[in-house]
Amino acid sequence: MAKTVGILTGGGDCPGLNAVIRAVVRQSDAAGWDCVGILEGWRGLVDGSFRDLPLRDVSGILPRGGTILGTSRTNPFKLDGGVEKVLETFRNAELDALVAIGGEDTLGVAARLYEEHEFPVVGVPKTIDNDLSATDYTFGFDTAVSIATEAIDRLHTTAESHNRVMVLEVMGRHTGWIAVMSGIAGGADVILIPEQPVSLDEACADIQRRHERGKDFSIVVVSEGYELEGAQDGDEVDQFGHVRLSERGVGAALAQEIERRTGYETRVTVLGHVQRGGTPTARDRVLATRYGLKAADLVEEKKFGRMAALHGDRIVDVPLKDATAELKTVPEDWFAVAKAFFG
Ligand code: F6P
Repeated sequence: MAKTVGILTGGGDCPGLNAVIRAVVRQSDAAGWDCVGILEGWRGLVDGSFRDLPLRDVSGILPRGGTILGTSRTNPFKLDGGVEKVLETFRNAELDALVAIGGEDTLGVAARLYEEHEFPVVGVPKTIDNDLSATDYTFGFDTAVSIATEAIDRLHTTAESHNRVMVLEVMGRHTGWIAVMSGIAGGADVILIPEQPVSLDEACADIQRRHERGKDFSIVVVSEGYELEGAQDGDEVDQFGHVRLSERGVGAALAQEIERRTGYETRVTVLGHVQRGGTPTARDRVLATRYGLKAADLVEEKKFGRMAALHGDRIVDVPLKDATAELKTVPEDWFAVAKAFFG
């Protein structure tokens, strides 16, 4: 009898999810497995909401953004009887394995289910934030960086025409990967991220130095998680304990403060969910595809509790718990590349 693998996508959506789903279904089919889509992340395993995933349903989805399975930030460990429901639903649906495609939170649940219940799960590292350890890159990140870079290019021409300082707030949660990479690619004059803090005084001094050199406009990229003096977190948290960082309004507060301190006219753009929407870049399509094939292979080989990962140019597998134990922050040497162009 054919075995069945469930596939779920959890956490914030990101370009490339459908490319992974397609690759898992194609490779599983070739190995004689059936696939079932679990709807809206872990919620689907708590509620028992599924859909069939025959080959024809994944045809044409490679370039499509979002996820055909839907997603949520449901944490079964935070729901009364949530874990028991997941285990029971999984058993009743006669599933033999699960591919969980997600970031820190979704894969953190997968890692615990494996460690505590020997749950037959493998992981695929997804997130525009690129903050997962044990892999060089997550898929979705390259697309977000490309979108943010295009925004910086567009802000350059209007900044130059008006002699303005333009502040661009990007996502990334508690790490500054999107800010640093798009800032380097777009030639930002100052980049502010949570893990390599540059003070407001230093940022304003960089902008002033640039203006003294005869450049009457500047581009500042700030990560939503940058600790701006006086910025306040909201009270609301999700089931994984995250506050909504966009609510802190770091970009707007920063723009106001730069204008007050330097006297230069300043505007802010908050890029928001545009960074997560639409079609993945070619690089993300390829990475997502390779991850999907690897995940299906891990299932076939019964290498549960593992995650597909990118090391250099090779796809390897690593323990799920290594990927979720700590956040991968921007190291000093990457920030030094960006900093060489400040001011
Ligand atoms: O983790 C991806 C991400 O886009 C973060 O960069 C951001 O802080 C968060 O999700 C936004 O979440 P939501 O989609 O719930 O507003």
